[in-house]
Amino acid sequence: MKYTALVLVLVILVAANACKKTNSTAPVPVPPVVIDTETLQGDAPFKIGAAIDVYRLQIDLMYKNTLLAQQNSITIENAVKWQSVHPSENIFDFSGGDYIADFCKNNNKRLHGHCLIWYQANPDWLNNYNGDSLAWEHLFKTHIQSVVAHYRGKATSWDVVNEAFRDDDGSLRVQDKYPGDNFDDGCIWARHLGSDYIARAFEYAHEADPNALLFYNEYGQEWSDAKTNAIINMVTDFKARGIPISGLGLQMHIDINTSNEGITKAIQKLAATGLQIYISELDISVNPANDQSVSFTTDLQKKQADKYAFIVHQYKALVPSAQQYGITTWNVGDKDSWIRTYIMHKDWPLLFDDNYAKKTCYFSFRDALKN
Ligand code: XIL
Repeated sequence: MKYTALVLVLVILVAANACKKTNSTAPVPVPPVVIDTETLQGDAPFKIGAAIDVYRLQIDLMYKNTLLAQQNSITIENAVKWQSVHPSENIFDFSGGDYIADFCKNNNKRLHGHCLIWYQANPDWLNNYNGDSLAWEHLFKTHIQSVVAHYRGKATSWDVVNEAFRDDDGSLRVQDKYPGDNFDDGCIWARHLGSDYIARAFEYAHEADPNALLFYNEYGQEWSDAKTNAIINMVTDFKARGIPISGLGLQMHIDINTSNEGITKAIQKLAATGLQIYISELDISVNPANDQSVSFTTDLQKKQADKYAFIVHQYKALVPSAQQYGITTWNVGDKDSWIRTYIMHKDWPLLFDDNYAKKTCYFSFRDALKN
């Protein structure tokens, strides 16, 4: 008897299911779509960006989705640095930059190019290049103009020259100060082209794309007055000579102990130039000493969140809105940060954690954008 009842139930279930399948007018169930309505780009009065690694963008859907939702400006982290885009004298490789440029075009994001001229990230063929000053000038100009022209109409802006001044006395990087330490902290461009190479870089870039906004980008203005003053002197000189500079990037690779006064002073001084002011590479280290016993405690999370909020508030208060080019963090999630992958520190410097969950500092940052 029990067996017959069971068979009956089964028959009814199968029949009901068959009916469902043949009933073509029945609505197809749609899974609920979760739209993140509270985003950085949605709450910011200026552009919010992230520096992007091509490979991560290609393989990691969480990375891509976070970007799609949260940021409306993208900086190319490495793909158009000299060693990536110009790997040998007669070869340009735009594949990485193009991937990011397409992503920006398809998703309506502003593209910021980084960086045309730097004392670092130069390939060996360039460092070992043999030529007189005319040949060096030709290389310099050809590189700048080829890269800028390639992204004409795609990149809104460029870091034309990156990190040309020294931290301690604000002098121009020229010779390697500590030969033998395996790191050239001087600059091949100043050595081969003389101290006015920065102005010429801006002129060449402007010729290649008159519509692009051209930035000078630098770190450490928040703690080196000498450097900040050198930048301001350069801008004054450029204005007097009609050199086409549009903006100044404050990288802001800082930590939770960076002085608030220093940050305020740097933003104020640079904003007084009247140029576009861009917080261009923000990250806030919580473990600058790389102490292996440190963990990301609630106290560190709070200090970091306060610092992120402070920067946004200062930027909004001290930079007139017409000069607010935006704030960009240097990558997206903690695990993507150069502090982990390049400096190799145990740290949690960005707005999203290793799984792209929003951190305490994300919320303080967004609140500061709103209020
Ligand atoms: C860093 C990148 O994040 C690393 O992936 C790379 O290996 C080295 O360069 N200031 C700059 C950036 O202007 O180009 C640097 O980016 C970080 C410091």
